[in-house]
Amino acid sequence: MANASSSSDLPRHIAIVMDGNGRWARRRLLPRIAGHRQGVESLRRCIRGCAERGVQVLTVFAFSSENWNRPSDEVSGLMELMGKALVREVPELLRAGIRLHFVGERRALSEGMRRALSQAEADTAGNAGMVLNVCFNYGGRWDIAQAAARLAERGAPITESALASAMALAHVPDPDLLIRTGGEQRISNFLLWQCAYSELYFTDCLWPDFDDAALDEALAAFAGRERRFGRTSEQLARTAAAG
Ligand code: IPE
Ligand code: IPE
Ligand code: MG
Repeated sequence: MANASSSSDLPRHIAIVMDGNGRWARRRLLPRIAGHRQGVESLRRCIRGCAERGVQVLTVFAFSSENWNRPSDEVSGLMELMGKALVREVPELLRAGIRLHFVGERRALSEGMRRALSQAEADTAGNAGMVLNVCFNYGGRWDIAQAAARLAERGAPITESALASAMALAHVPDPDLLIRTGGEQRISNFLLWQCAYSELYFTDCLWPDFDDAALDEALAAFAGRERRFGRTSEQLARTAAAG
């Protein structure tokens, strides 16, 4: 069915739960960290693919507030990988005009990591291309709570719009499309507030295997959705005919 409600079939903002790195590695009898390493490669390809297709905002879930519960060697491996990826990838992101934001609770991160995140943000702040939000030590419940705490601190009334403007992704519109790779059909405490009206797309494809063809499949599925935002199909058809 045609997407009658939208002027464009392309999502402005795509959010991704990049899941399945561990299973990708296990199938190859490799350590889990090898899957995470391949996951970084897949992310690099996906950033390029989204930018080439004209997506304005890409938000990825890289480390959840619950991922601290993993074995300590995997957690430290992921932290190390993040540090290395920053050093290696930021020059390329700069060249590609991408604006980088890190979203999540930074207090739990090491001093060095916090500095590296801020530096990468500052380095790319002047770019005018696609916005890339990397959710790192992020949880949707944390986000709602920190937004409410900020309002309470200012003595501001807690309204929907005030909360929305205090949330960690207030600098971008809400995601139009939420993709989760790896076969699980759950949100895992990702963007609980912001995905209120996102189209959900679940694929069995493991994140390291998520290539341009898989991205195009997700985009085709999105283009086939009718986004009604509470209205009826007939109302949408009338608006489209009038516009
Ligand atoms: C997602 O892949 C990456 C992170 C959570 C950091 P997983 O590591 O969860 O991969 P699976 O789900 O075990 O296959
Ligand atoms: C979600 O994946 C978090 C990230 C992709 C960073 P998980 O693999 O941690 O999710 P659960 O635990 O299976 O729900
Ligand atoms: Mg997983």
